[in-house]
Amino acid sequence: MNDVSMETISTFLGAVGMRMVKIDGECLTHGPASVLVRSGSNWHCPACLEIEMAAEARSMWLADRNATLMQAAHIPLKYIGQRFIATAPAQKEVRAQVRIFRDFILQERTWAALIMIGTTGTGKTLLACEFGQSLIANASRSVRYITAAGMISEIQASYGREGKTEEGEILRFVQYDVLILDEIDAIRSTENANLLLTEIINRRYNEAKPVVVISNQPFDSLAKYVGERVYSRLHENAFTCAFTWADARKTA
Ligand SMILES: Nc1ncnc2c1ncn2[C@@H]1O[C@H](COP(=O)(O)OP(=O)(O)O)[C@@H](O)[C@H]1O
Ligand SMILES: [Mg+2]
Ligand SMILES: [Zn+2]
Repeated sequence: MNDVSMETISTFLGAVGMRMVKIDGECLTHGPASVLVRSGSNWHCPACLEIEMAAEARSMWLADRNATLMQAAHIPLKYIGQRFIATAPAQKEVRAQVRIFRDFILQERTWAALIMIGTTGTGKTLLACEFGQSLIANASRSVRYITAAGMISEIQASYGREGKTEEGEILRFVQYDVLILDEIDAIRSTENANLLLTEIINRRYNEAKPVVVISNQPFDSLAKYVGERVYSRLHENAFTCAFTWADARKTA
């Protein structure tokens, strides 16, 4: 700020009853500078202040964006903030596999599938949700969690509804950076359900957008539930996690 404008401000603040003084100081990084401060206040480096304010604005913006992303992700309440505890070697292995998948999709924009297979209660949904939350918090990626059946019904609910189209609903599920599809083996196997699932997986595949797919059925039997085309996509850049231990709800 030049001396003239500083004096103008000083005169103005003086007129409204605030006493301002000009003090000189020196910053080790930015050198000497004169600043106008309220009488009694300490000198500060204007360049450092500007950097601090920019960082603060950025972190507020990020926090705001992440809160919005968290809302849009629809992570079930019971999994929010909950951690998957890995004690057994097989659990450590799936955790490591998730980390490898994470590094892979953050490094390059490409289609990839993280496939979690295991019986009920082994922590698949928990680990997938923890992963989704970490993508939001640490990488500001947009994530959507939903069961496959839930996704199909959301799309089908658009039929005959004014202002909603099937295409618009499909696009919603294509747009997320990462789509977590839970219970993929539990969709009602109608022709329409299969078409919708195939369409979404195909479009995500074409747009290089990864998925997380969770199933209670062995991987080799998935074709029966998701159709041949989806099954074949799931073989490309596939990262498989086998949840082989017993139900955590029963052993806990
Ligand atoms: N490794 C684990 N660490 C902490 N909690 C776990 C773990 N595995 C399972 N749980 C708990 O057990 C319950 C079932 O987990 P969930 O993820 O819903 O299983 P799945 O999706 O495989 O059926 C949840 O309440 C979850 O919090
Ligand atoms: Mg589950
Ligand atoms: Zn400075």
